[in-house]
Amino acid sequence: MKILVTGAAGFIGSNFVYYLLEKHEDEVWALDLLTYAGNLKNLDGCKDNPHFHFVKADICDRENINKLFAEERFDIVVNFAAESHVDRSIENPGIFLKTNILGTQVLMDACLKYGVSRYHQVSTDEVYGDLPLDRKDLYFTESTPLHTSSPYSASKASADLLVMAYHRTYNLNMTISRCSNNYGPYQFPEKLIPLMIHNAQNNIPLPVYGQGLNVRDWLHVYDHCSAIDLIIRHGQNGEVYNVGGHNEKANIEVVKTILKILDKPQSLITYVTDRKGHDLRYAIDPSKIQKELGWKPKYHFEEGIKETVDWYLNHQEWLDSITSGAYMEYYQRMYGNR
Ligand code: NAD
Ligand code: DAU
Repeated sequence: MKILVTGAAGFIGSNFVYYLLEKHEDEVWALDLLTYAGNLKNLDGCKDNPHFHFVKADICDRENINKLFAEERFDIVVNFAAESHVDRSIENPGIFLKTNILGTQVLMDACLKYGVSRYHQVSTDEVYGDLPLDRKDLYFTESTPLHTSSPYSASKASADLLVMAYHRTYNLNMTISRCSNNYGPYQFPEKLIPLMIHNAQNNIPLPVYGQGLNVRDWLHVYDHCSAIDLIIRHGQNGEVYNVGGHNEKANIEVVKTILKILDKPQSLITYVTDRKGHDLRYAIDPSKIQKELGWKPKYHFEEGIKETVDWYLNHQEWLDSITSGAYMEYYQRMYGNR
């Protein structure tokens, strides 16, 4: 099969490309615009694989996308390409609407035009909004109403609605996955876990928003990839699948775990002004994908986070190359006067 993976030089996209090449004999086309978050070095390990092909392109560029689809005739399209960071969406929502909504439309139009048999939209649990901290009995299911908090999550929810509209109106063959927070190799250090690892390593204060009590449901990126792989091959046309491993942790707990693994003092923790509209708690009910597709996560958080910290320690050059220049400007803007 010929599979197009968009956003393939980002965190989850690159992990998914490695997953496909390791598990299957498919021809994998990795597409990315190489924005600040996309890094070709993330794909270094597969550049000599004869089943791997890279194309630099913008999913919003209709002409170029149509040309590629006309030439390559993909069987499956998996769309990871997005602006993905909530804090940046609060600073500047416009690019989130363009890439996450209009880019999705361009890809779906190309799927319809060139007879792609399955379009998969990589969505997020953030489309469901948040849950209260004092109701541990509540979880997001696939029928939880969409109720978003940030420009990022609103753009992702808009894309989901558009994907479902294309299914109903034009019979687009599609699936959607909504996963909880991922961690693992190749994550850009603007996100909680790699940012805290990088700061702790360098004895820079660890900026915890608010009181650090917000809860996220962590899943190793490998387990997200295995879920998407099952969905694109065995998922039902028109269905949404939640993905999560029942692994809820308050942010402060995650930060303290990282400090402990690195043997750094808790005095590095600094409480800073909270994120605007900060979602309180995410918690996924993954029973549908477990029952219908037999998906099971491989990683426990305790083992996964140790392995992840080790990965960043062993990839110092990778981390250094992306935490200089533009990253420093971003860091100063985001945390300088917080
Ligand atoms: P990321 O920011 O690391 O990667 C996004 C990639 O998309 C980058 O390589 C970037 O260059 C590329 N991109 C951006 N605009 C593009 C465009 N116009 N054309 C082509 N490529 C473009 O993000 P990620 O964390 O890997 O997330 C990937 C997808 O998974 C996103 O859709 C996100 O909403 C979703 N998701 C992420 C998580 C998480 O915890 N990180 C959880 C659930 C869902
Ligand atoms: O739930 C899935 C989502 O998870 C994905 O859709 C998003 O693309 C991804 O970025 C992530 O969103 P979050 O906002 O949950 O992730 P982030 O790593 O930005 O923050 C995790 C938590 O940590 C959140 O409660 C905010 C907090 N935080 C984050 C940063 C960067 C801090 O306390 N300090 C920080 O410096």
